[in-house]
Amino acid sequence: MKDFKQQEHVDVMSMTGFAEDVLKGLSAKPKYLLSKYFYDDEGSRIFQQIMQMPEYYLTDCEMEIFKTQKQDIFASFSNDGRPFDLIELGAGDGLKTIVLLEHFLTQQATFEYLPIDISEEALRNLTASIKTKLPSLSIKGMAGDYFQMMETINQYDHHKKILLFLGSNIGNFNEDEANDFLQKLRSVMQKNDLLFIGFDMKKDSEIILKAYNDSHGYTAQFNLNLLLRINRELGTDFRPDYFRHKEIYNAQTGTAKSYLFSLEKQAVIFPEFNESLFFEKGEPVFMEMSQKYDAEMINTLAEQAGFKVVRNFHDSRQYYVNSLWKLIK
Ligand code: AVI
Repeated sequence: MKDFKQQEHVDVMSMTGFAEDVLKGLSAKPKYLLSKYFYDDEGSRIFQQIMQMPEYYLTDCEMEIFKTQKQDIFASFSNDGRPFDLIELGAGDGLKTIVLLEHFLTQQATFEYLPIDISEEALRNLTASIKTKLPSLSIKGMAGDYFQMMETINQYDHHKKILLFLGSNIGNFNEDEANDFLQKLRSVMQKNDLLFIGFDMKKDSEIILKAYNDSHGYTAQFNLNLLLRINRELGTDFRPDYFRHKEIYNAQTGTAKSYLFSLEKQAVIFPEFNESLFFEKGEPVFMEMSQKYDAEMINTLAEQAGFKVVRNFHDSRQYYVNSLWKLIK
């Protein structure tokens, strides 16, 4: 039984959409797959492991910001004691957000927490852990793709809305996609609403590459799980041992990209469309981008999408920023 509100998100995540996207990406030159498909229940579980590795510094940085600056964050979110709605896009396990939620409750804030995530299992776990840790908190989880959740978000207009987009999720969009996404968010926000976004900053490439080419092999597993998911759901016969994961970082642009390289010349049968997909030995499949930012890029991104940076919250190493935005006007 589903213990949270199910949205009309069936179309985009339906089998057909998935199969078509996979076929389109793997028939393209150069080949690619969409990283939004990483997060089936197994992918979400592997992602939890990634977040727990010390090499994946992003989680620790955001946690440090929340733990050490929760008072200032709360003061910037709400200074008039009025109720607000805290809507988190791509909430995952919500482990970091709980630090803020707990603080807000101790400050007697009146708010509802509305996490949105594509993985039903992740949401179920989050809801259960919040109910145990913060029983007085009003929570309503919503399963779905955040693009399709815009209409739902739009309906929350009785109180001030604070939208959370944490964990450097913005980094998985290219510039146009980020802009498009932010414009959509802007269109569901009112004058006093706020947007709180987590950005991973440009830094020494070795630090970045250690986080994504990790020695535990979790990131490789995370990428290869998408091939296994395609096998599970679309009946293909990918052999994950015939592919190798590798992350490449361009320090000039701040773009980290992950690839799966085909280790052999191979063909994979795609029964859904009665087709075979061919891979050359050494051919890359582009899997995901993880954009790193600097202060100027953040300001430009905000301005282009019609926002103004209200305040930036850095961690002590300046590896990461949580940036609070409001609408221009
Ligand atoms: C979810 N997202 C911000 C992660 C990132 O850092 O780009 C996904 C990830 N991929 C590999 N490791 C983590």
